[in-house]
Amino acid sequence: MNDELSLFDSDDKKAENRINELSALINKYDKAYYADATPLVSDREYDELFRELQDLEAQFPALKKSDSPTQRVGSDALESFESVRHDKPMLSLQNTYSRKELSEFFRRVEEGLEGDKAEYVCELKYDGVAMSLRYRKGKLDIAVTRGDGYNGDNITANARTIRNIPLSLNVDHDFEVRGEVYLEDQTFREINRKREEAGEKIYANPRNLTAGTLKLLDSSQVASRPLKMVCYYYDATEMNITHYGNTGKLKELGFPTGYDLRLCKTADEVFEFIDEWESKRHDIPFAIDGIVIKVNSLEQQRLLGFVARSPKWAIAYKYEAETARTLLKDIKLQVGRTGAVTPVAELEPVFLSGSTVSRATLHNVDFITDKDIRVGDTVMVQKGGEVIPKVIGHVPELRSADSKAWEFPALCPCKRQSPLSRPEGEANYYCNDPQCPWQIRRHIEHFASRNAMYIEGLGEKVVEQFTELGLLKDISDIYRLHERRDEIAALERWGDKSADKLMTAIEKSKERPFDKVLFALGIRFIGESAAGLLANHFKNIDKLMNATEEELTGIYEIGERMAKSVLDFFADENEQRIVSRLRESGLQFEISNDNSGGAKPLAGISFVLTGELENMTRTEAKEKITALGGKVTGSVSKKTGYVVVGANPGSKYEKAQKLGITILSEEELNTKLGS
Ligand code: IVH
Repeated sequence: MNDELSLFDSDDKKAENRINELSALINKYDKAYYADATPLVSDREYDELFRELQDLEAQFPALKKSDSPTQRVGSDALESFESVRHDKPMLSLQNTYSRKELSEFFRRVEEGLEGDKAEYVCELKYDGVAMSLRYRKGKLDIAVTRGDGYNGDNITANARTIRNIPLSLNVDHDFEVRGEVYLEDQTFREINRKREEAGEKIYANPRNLTAGTLKLLDSSQVASRPLKMVCYYYDATEMNITHYGNTGKLKELGFPTGYDLRLCKTADEVFEFIDEWESKRHDIPFAIDGIVIKVNSLEQQRLLGFVARSPKWAIAYKYEAETARTLLKDIKLQVGRTGAVTPVAELEPVFLSGSTVSRATLHNVDFITDKDIRVGDTVMVQKGGEVIPKVIGHVPELRSADSKAWEFPALCPCKRQSPLSRPEGEANYYCNDPQCPWQIRRHIEHFASRNAMYIEGLGEKVVEQFTELGLLKDISDIYRLHERRDEIAALERWGDKSADKLMTAIEKSKERPFDKVLFALGIRFIGESAAGLLANHFKNIDKLMNATEEELTGIYEIGERMAKSVLDFFADENEQRIVSRLRESGLQFEISNDNSGGAKPLAGISFVLTGELENMTRTEAKEKITALGGKVTGSVSKKTGYVVVGANPGSKYEKAQKLGITILSEEELNTKLGS
């Protein structure tokens, strides 16, 4: 026992030492690369160290420090995408909303050029997601997200699905192109509409949906969303001497270079371009949030250089979010899954930034009190690139003399009218009635949503219809719906086909694994990752239901608040009844061991994947390997059992060869997986 303990200790200690060592090395190399522009190691060596650090931190999460170099990648670098370092950092632009500041920019440029005149190129500022494309010998080799500016995610498979990006060109030099990936407004609305119908979460704006799409692990899903790219940067050994010329070069090569590009000889011409687009900006099929102004001559750009993380030779002039005035007809309440009650403005419909707005968020009671917003006021509404517009204030001169301050209602807007209360320190009022039909609806919507039980077809509208009709009283009724299939088929807007489709989706959801079921139950504060931790730790619902607070808080990342919520949930008789009905229906309430009676033929073997697999995604491969007890790590070492090599493998392939590790093809991997 003691021996074991000390062994454990020393492993931990070793990991800690190595983590410190790696962090120090990477920080040193970063500085040399970014600050002094004198790289000390090759990219490959750097990547290897970085990976090793990421792996160690994944293995020993307690040792991960918030200032670790891996944290700079932020949430952008998903474990399953390979992290790639940019050849040159992808910087951001200084922003301004003010013409005065723009004039100062022109002055600074001329000062920096010691009186020499500069020409400027004006471009639209596309409201999308930046991406870099590297071409080798005319072929698209690798596509990388911006990430933290220095390291991004390798999203090549996803980028290849974007139709207006050339995959190969008739040239044989290497070059890099950068630009913005975006979705047209129309496409965005269409995708959101379908998601809403399917009961899935909708995206706030086209940019978020674009970012979400580029991060999908399954590129065939990406391909079904018509992303587009517009390019604004070209880097090659043979370059034109101006930005304008290089954009022409991009166009000549077949890259999309945008709607409008104008070479301006004076500041006045720049201002004209800005004015022109201010009124035209909603007439184009995608969102722009401003104009980018760049010094045209590359030599002048070089002379001007950089400040912090932005070039001194470019600036973004941003347009103010548009506002509209309209009548606040009423303030309605909305009840969420947890009972939180939020105020929503009912507006006299008004046209704003390309669409008609009739509802807007009012945030919470404090916002309404602070801004003294009253029913009957003329309010200002704004759409800041988000789908849900917001009220930002009222127009005092237009207030009628008899208007009264708004008071938060005392009762829930649902038909049970339970009292509302506001816990201390909370921004929201809550309805604490577990039978509140609105909460029940939200709860069922959550249960059926994509990341939970993923029951397609059981979205907001259907849940509303079914609860109204008494077909659904709680989540466990979902699995009794087949008894009322004919009744459903006979409903308005239904029919045999859609009823059967829903029944199939419900049946299929019974295969969802334990952690998803746990998340779907909607235990307060238990999100997806906490549900995963609980499922892995307890393995089945009985053990979880009998867990003590100490046991729960003993799990890394499960805090007191979460533990209490779990205990409360399972102590509740109504929840117990629902859980037991769900069990009877055959949902997964334990971690499944469906591989030949729980055999773990790959136990203790570690795999490294490199290159693109043909018939499965990396995540799938990883899942299959771990299901059989194997481990998938990010870097090759002497301890690696196998390296699985797909098309276009990275440096890990060479390292494996060097170390004499057994190489597997995808086919050989499949044999090992027994399929
Ligand atoms: S040039 C060093 N041009 O805005 C300058 N960026 O805030 C690199 N963007 O990261 C960017 N339209 O994602 C440039 N015509 C345009 C752009 C543009 C949109 C984005 C880009 C960049 C961000 C800067």
